[in-house]
Amino acid sequence: MRAMVYRGPYKVRVEEKPDPRIEHPNDAIVRVTTAAICGSDLHLYHGMMPDLRVGHTFGHEFVGVVEQVGSSVRNLAVGDRVMVPFNIFCGTCFFCARGLYSNCHNVNPNATAVGGIYGYSHTTGGYDGGQAELVRVPFADVGPSKIPDWLAEEDAVLLTDACSTGYFGAQLGDIAEGDVVVVLGAGPVGLFAARSAWLMGAGRVIVVDHLDYRLEKARTFAYAETVNFGEVDDVVVHLKKATGYLGADVVIDAVGAEADGNLTQHVTSAKLKLQGGSPVALNWAIDSVRKGGTVSVMGAYGPIFSAVKFGDARNKGLTIRTNQAPVKRQWPRLLEHIRNGYLKPSDIVTHRIPLDDIAEGYHMFSAKLDGCVKTLVLPGRS
Ligand SMILES: NC(=O)c1ccc[n+]([C@@H]2O[C@H](COP(=O)([O-])OP(=O)(O)OC[C@H]3O[C@@H](n4cnc5c(N)ncnc54)[C@H](O)[C@@H]3O)[C@@H](O)[C@H]2O)c1
Ligand SMILES: [Zn+2]
Ligand SMILES: [Zn+2]
Repeated sequence: MRAMVYRGPYKVRVEEKPDPRIEHPNDAIVRVTTAAICGSDLHLYHGMMPDLRVGHTFGHEFVGVVEQVGSSVRNLAVGDRVMVPFNIFCGTCFFCARGLYSNCHNVNPNATAVGGIYGYSHTTGGYDGGQAELVRVPFADVGPSKIPDWLAEEDAVLLTDACSTGYFGAQLGDIAEGDVVVVLGAGPVGLFAARSAWLMGAGRVIVVDHLDYRLEKARTFAYAETVNFGEVDDVVVHLKKATGYLGADVVIDAVGAEADGNLTQHVTSAKLKLQGGSPVALNWAIDSVRKGGTVSVMGAYGPIFSAVKFGDARNKGLTIRTNQAPVKRQWPRLLEHIRNGYLKPSDIVTHRIPLDDIAEGYHMFSAKLDGCVKTLVLPGRS
């Protein structure tokens, strides 16, 4: 089969690889019809993630058609159209029983903190991902769902991560009626978090980024007020002023460890590797939320950070909530919202490319060229 493979930082290409095969009776093999490139893939592409091995295939957002099933698979049949959550999870362990699918204890022999993720380095299990013609889906009875007839494929693929993650980010914010919600980052996750905040009763939504074309999307797709942090002296002071000097009730970090906005942090993380990334967005969240407020962290962070304002968070009495999104838990509500016409996830898609063009796709998304917000990858198209 043809698959995207990692060759080293900033180097990906499409290669022939052996077809994946059923390795366990509860596996399925899925022929990928649409995949997507996520902001999390950029951390891999930039070589920021530990134990990422040359030859690995990325891709944790994908939908497709079931091509083979193992002997114990009961819920899926060959030919079913399925959406596959980015988490690999067993469905029965202590954590899965509590809905913590992203923290499954049975799917990742390499770490105890995080469960399994498709196409996301060996720290999350080393499973090959879906930016390929075919992918092996473990626990096929547990993760995937059949795509309802009325749901468009491009909406379904966004439910496998970005849309569900944005929604989860808003859920973890515990938004009360009328709350002021600030979202840091106007990438797909931030856009969906901002849009979801309204669905949960927010009274005001403010999105912060430094890319004007993305802030435009935040206004038109997420109906948010926007702030370009490159155009204000001090974004925290700006947000404080905008919120009656109290701070926002809820701040959602949809940026993560590769944040721009502070040169020292950038040098100590990306260049000197003294910490797992730059905690700038996290610190802005801690500083711009009100006392007693909630910070929801969707952005990805490696394990070690040295300059997080934890003392301020503690003294302000903040609630900090975070996790990888347990995607399947968000589906019932999101399907309802989509079906009722409150949300059309594919409105954020800006590019559709064949698998063979994936190297250009990564470059474009990484360098934020050509108005790129979300790129879909179509393995069946040349
Ligand atoms: N928790 C989860 O389950 C989960 C799932 C998917 C993605 N993620 C993470 O969420 C983050 C966002 O993903 P995405 O796909 O939207 O990525 P993205 O790269 O498209 O978006 C990030 C945005 O943040 C902006 N930004 C950079 N520094 C900033 C700062 N200091 N303040 C405000 N904005 C800033 C960038 O300009 C960019 O528009 C990534 O870290 C990704 O790894 C987490
Ligand atoms: Zn992702
Ligand atoms: Zn489990």
